Amino acid sequence: MIDDLWYKNAIIYCLSVGTYMDANGDGIGDFKGLLRRLDYLHGLGITTIWLMPFQTSPGRDDGYDVADYYSVDARYGTLGDFVEFTHGCEQRGIRVIIDLVVNHTSDQHPWFKAARSDRNSPYRDWYVWSDKKPANANQGMVFPGVQKSTWTRDKEAGAWYFHRFYDFQPDLNTSNPRVQAEILKIMGFWIQLGVSGFRMDAVPFVIATKGAKVKKPAEQYDMLRTFREFLQWRQGDAIILAEANVLPKTDMEYFGRDADRMHMMFNFQVNQHLFYALASSDSRPLAQALKATKPRPASAQWGLFLRNHDELDLGRLTEAQRDRVFKCFGPDKDMQLYNRGIRRRLAPMLGGDRRRLELAYSLMCTLPGTPVIRYGDEIAMGDDLSLPERNCARTPMQWSTEPNGGFTISDTPALPVISEGPYGFEHVNVAKQRRDPNSMLNWTERIIRMRKEVPEIGWGDFTIIRTRDPAVLIIRYDWRNNSVLFVHNLDEKPRETAFSVQLPGDVGEHLINLLAENHSHADKRGQHRVVLEPYGYRWYRVGGLDYLLKRSEIETR
Ligand code: NOJ
Ligand code: CA
Repeated sequence: MIDDLWYKNAIIYCLSVGTYMDANGDGIGDFKGLLRRLDYLHGLGITTIWLMPFQTSPGRDDGYDVADYYSVDARYGTLGDFVEFTHGCEQRGIRVIIDLVVNHTSDQHPWFKAARSDRNSPYRDWYVWSDKKPANANQGMVFPGVQKSTWTRDKEAGAWYFHRFYDFQPDLNTSNPRVQAEILKIMGFWIQLGVSGFRMDAVPFVIATKGAKVKKPAEQYDMLRTFREFLQWRQGDAIILAEANVLPKTDMEYFGRDADRMHMMFNFQVNQHLFYALASSDSRPLAQALKATKPRPASAQWGLFLRNHDELDLGRLTEAQRDRVFKCFGPDKDMQLYNRGIRRRLAPMLGGDRRRLELAYSLMCTLPGTPVIRYGDEIAMGDDLSLPERNCARTPMQWSTEPNGGFTISDTPALPVISEGPYGFEHVNVAKQRRDPNSMLNWTERIIRMRKEVPEIGWGDFTIIRTRDPAVLIIRYDWRNNSVLFVHNLDEKPRETAFSVQLPGDVGEHLINLLAENHSHADKRGQHRVVLEPYGYRWYRVGGLDYLLKRSEIETR
């Protein structure tokens, strides 16, 4: 049944509990606060919340350094509060997925403490050790410029340990069957508490072979099948959304040719080329990225995003393309990060230009996949570049013009609320935008509503329709005798574009505009001529009632 694969037509919204809403006034967002905001999220129309890590953690990598997988960090509440939250979501028909960070633990995790203090501890082999400094210790850093190596000597252990990320994040030895069994147990635990799946962190590294002698890590794809199988035994409709920034040629290894591995993956390829398209007004590389990532099993799905909680990674673009994006969206060194990306939020990158924001959102909603929205982007929140690394785009949600944007009554919020400049909470906040029918918030709500009413995007086959103009991208979806068509103008100048829609049994004479009154009717030669405003976009459904009747006749003949 169509609704069974719920993630195919979902709207995912990601947030971190600590910066969303503080209910008890200690300056840190918490589950009680988030619970109070569920009606806001429900009203926005999102269908799934992705929670970033909230388990007990020293918090040196915003929770991606877990010290206890079976708990809620006391700053955010209790397990009881968590279950109240998942229940509140269930009542509103909202699903919850959570981060599953099992490539590494915190160095404060009891497993690591036991492992480092005793060579004979059963936990020793849960991590990756070497007696001598490995030859490749200065290679493979994920955070170049900040992280100095991937192996660090631990005095207490009398040995070197491997860490793909920061030195306080020792890698788990994921080849160890006991570690694998523990990963399943962690999934089972949270499934039991009401979540519908996981955003799995750093998947290529989780499944890579690790060790001092490993020259070229090999992916152990079978592990992915083990994770999925277990999950589906426990709960048939639970999913895994993989964070795997890999080349298109390996996509199928992650999805599984028999659709037996990851249900979803973030489409990093499209993400980077989308930003290139926005920077250059040239849609061709984006069209190529769409084609390159087209092959996937029918039940699999892409997660499509604009910005997330990390830097905008541009590592897959050519140098010239990357330079173009840097020049346009992050010209200052201070805006860039790890020699490969931009750390700003979406709105400041696009100069706060409402037309460009709508264009970007419209693309995210109409390219093949399921949109993943970052909290705050629905009101076009800004960033605070005075904060280190990626924290600049992780500031508290701006709810109102009250002190600290209504996020907390404390004078010392965990991260400062943006209070100055055009993106300060006095200008950019939910309360103000809720009252303004033309606000970004109300626009986002409407586009989400429409996106949900066009399941063809999540389910259908797409075709890119050729135009002579590289600034115009036209994409069509066909699914169950319905067709929809989306036209985007990436340029700052208006564009006139001509195209035809050829479908079996019909020429696609009438295009019904889903967002406004100006529909399009083909001329005698079957050509549609559409004049798009600067950064303009159109959402069309092919055919009116006549056309649909005619088609069903054809189908049933
Ligand atoms: C990817 C996460 O998105 C990032 O925020 C984190 O620092 C690393 N994985 C390490 O867990
Ligand atoms: Ca609190």
